[in-house]
Amino acid sequence: MNRPYIICHMVTSLDGKVTGDFLGNPECAAACETYYEINRNLKSNGFICGRVTMEGSFTGGYYPDLSEYEPVRHDMDLKMDFILDDMTGFYAIAFDPKGKLGWKSNKIIDPDGDPGYDGAQIIEVLTEQADERYLGYLESMEIPYIFAGETEIDVKLALFKLKSIIGCDTLLLEGGSIVNGYFQRADVIDELSLVVAPVVAYKNDKPLFTDSTLSTFEAVNAKIENGVTVLNYLKKGKRASNNSVVIKWENALTIDEAIESEKSDSTGLYYISRVFGNKETTLYLGIATKHNTIRHRLKGHQNWWLKEYRGTIKVRIGKVIYPYTNIDEIIDHAESAILYEQDKLFFENTSKTKSYTYNNLYCFKNVGDIFELKPIIDMAEQE
Ligand SMILES: NC(=O)c1ccc[n+]([C@@H]2O[C@H](COP(=O)([O-])OP(=O)(O)OC[C@H]3O[C@@H](n4cnc5c(N)ncnc54)[C@H](OP(=O)(O)O)[C@@H]3O)[C@@H](O)[C@H]2O)c1
Repeated sequence: MNRPYIICHMVTSLDGKVTGDFLGNPECAAACETYYEINRNLKSNGFICGRVTMEGSFTGGYYPDLSEYEPVRHDMDLKMDFILDDMTGFYAIAFDPKGKLGWKSNKIIDPDGDPGYDGAQIIEVLTEQADERYLGYLESMEIPYIFAGETEIDVKLALFKLKSIIGCDTLLLEGGSIVNGYFQRADVIDELSLVVAPVVAYKNDKPLFTDSTLSTFEAVNAKIENGVTVLNYLKKGKRASNNSVVIKWENALTIDEAIESEKSDSTGLYYISRVFGNKETTLYLGIATKHNTIRHRLKGHQNWWLKEYRGTIKVRIGKVIYPYTNIDEIIDHAESAILYEQDKLFFENTSKTKSYTYNNLYCFKNVGDIFELKPIIDMAEQE
């Protein structure tokens, strides 16, 4: 894909609204808590918000005195993006067409605010309408900016640049209603992660997507957690309707917890990593059958090669949640396709990394706590 994979992650009311005061209702506290917990577990390169949401959540309406800044003029009216040399980390990407947001730092400073955002590197996505002195202000603050469009932000162009210039593979789209609507109309939302609060909102509150067009998604997961409903949908792709396979990865457990867990008492996939110091490294991908369950296989690894590793060994258990038949055959293909696609990552695996054989072409979608797994692995691309 020439753009990042986009997961739209939002709290909605029962009637599908996302803006307004309903979120402040005590009945929504559990939904907000669940939302932030999922937000922290969704592995991504950053989050995108519209200008209004960024202002409400982070800048509080501050705006610099632009007369203090030199205008940045570009030769021949060609608008040049401004990128820092060191652009790794977690990004807070503001869709701010006219350059209305005033930041006091080039990182989100919100230690007591909503968990999961503090320290994110800010990136401004602008149009040619932005004041040239605003560019001077951003450069003086070392805030990277990219241009995408003349008056409105061209979502596809912005995403192309976020992938090709910044290197974003997965981004969370986190509202509000207007920016979500731009993405929905551009048909670039790959996944919906919705936390439904048990309230009906006010009549003037806005829906998940402003000015939406018709599009379809397939339901891949639904659960009640903490008294709220959590729903996951994937975009219904042309190929996906016949051969899509969805693998849901549980949150990482220590290996002892994983061996204890009833989830390891079955078939499925498992993904082993090691946390040493502050760094987590992928080690191994395995599969289990009815006769050699995940628990059994993990015990085997623990008694053998895992002994060599210092630090904490983590395990993510993966289950095929769609389709519902031929699971063993699909698990086998999933292992092969993931190892073939990401062979360098799984350096403890020795087989299946250089080639694989198959009868069917599947499109694997990894959802949940996927750490370094690619969200989509399409076997057709390997034909
Ligand atoms: N329920 C949830 O999970 C959730 C999550 C986030 C936010 N929210 C709520 O959402 C509300 C704000 O939402 P909102 O819909 O009013 O605004 P928004 O989507 O946050 O921001 C809209 C603004 O972003 C700019 N923009 C974004 N994409 C653009 C594009 N492609 N082209 C041009 N401009 C673009 C425009 O800025 P200009 O106006 O400067 O032109 C536009 O008016 C807040 O109440 C917040 O609490 C809820």
